[in-house]
Amino acid sequence: GDAVPLPKYEWSFDGVFGTYDKASLQRGFQVYKEVCSACHSLDLIAFRNLADLGYNVDEIKAIASEYTVEDGPNDEGEMFERNAIASDYFPSPFPNEKAAAASNGGKAPPDLSLMAKARVGGPSFVRALLTGYEDAPEGFETGDLSYNKYFPGHLIAMAPPLSEDSVEYGDGTAATVDQMAADVSHFMMWAAEPKLEARKNTGVKVMIFLIIFTLVMYAAKRKVFAKVH
Ligand code: HEM
Repeated sequence: GDAVPLPKYEWSFDGVFGTYDKASLQRGFQVYKEVCSACHSLDLIAFRNLADLGYNVDEIKAIASEYTVEDGPNDEGEMFERNAIASDYFPSPFPNEKAAAASNGGKAPPDLSLMAKARVGGPSFVRALLTGYEDAPEGFETGDLSYNKYFPGHLIAMAPPLSEDSVEYGDGTAATVDQMAADVSHFMMWAAEPKLEARKNTGVKVMIFLIIFTLVMYAAKRKVFAKVH
């Protein structure tokens, strides 16, 4: 099948002055935690990074402590499990790629750390994908796979992960499929580009500097050449 053009979504992080929406990031993290993390790892993110989302140290410690990570070897040379701490990275749901593929009909769920940068359309692709499940057209055999209008080739090994009220948001936001898709895509954009705000901020400062610098140099030039005819 042919690629279907993505919807034009608006994001708070679009444009030169774009910033992340912390409430959306927190909701998106909740979706990742309660739904996606059953299958998808988030290898590049440590619990302490969640400070960017507006969580304080105690909240981060509490979140980390819900996870178990492997550590070791200890003095006896053995590996052991312990509760995660702020400096640990999110543990993977599967021990390795083979196990991940075996549990998912032969296709391993990809790591989501850079997913919002890995596909054409970025976060909009992810959001569209999560809302793009529909019945296959007449005569289109899906077998064990699902039909998704935004997935290249349309046949995807990920069953629709979201349905109405898959999560219950603490801030009272209605958990529609599109809302959860928007929030988790926002969160994945942050995961892929945690320094986006700093980068844009520097860009704006550089532009302001260059404008002022241009004016100063122009004034200097006028002065230096004032008596040259
Ligand atoms: C693939 C996101 C939940 C299993 C993907 C892809 C994305 C994604 C962006 C990549 C598509 C591509 O390669 O272009 C998410 C999000 C989830 C979620 C945001 C939570 C809302 C799940 C769950 C499972 C799962 C719960 C397992 C039950 C898979 C598998 C693939 C995949 C097997 C590979 C599909 C293929 O290449 O055919 N997911 N996912 N995902 N996901 Fe998920």
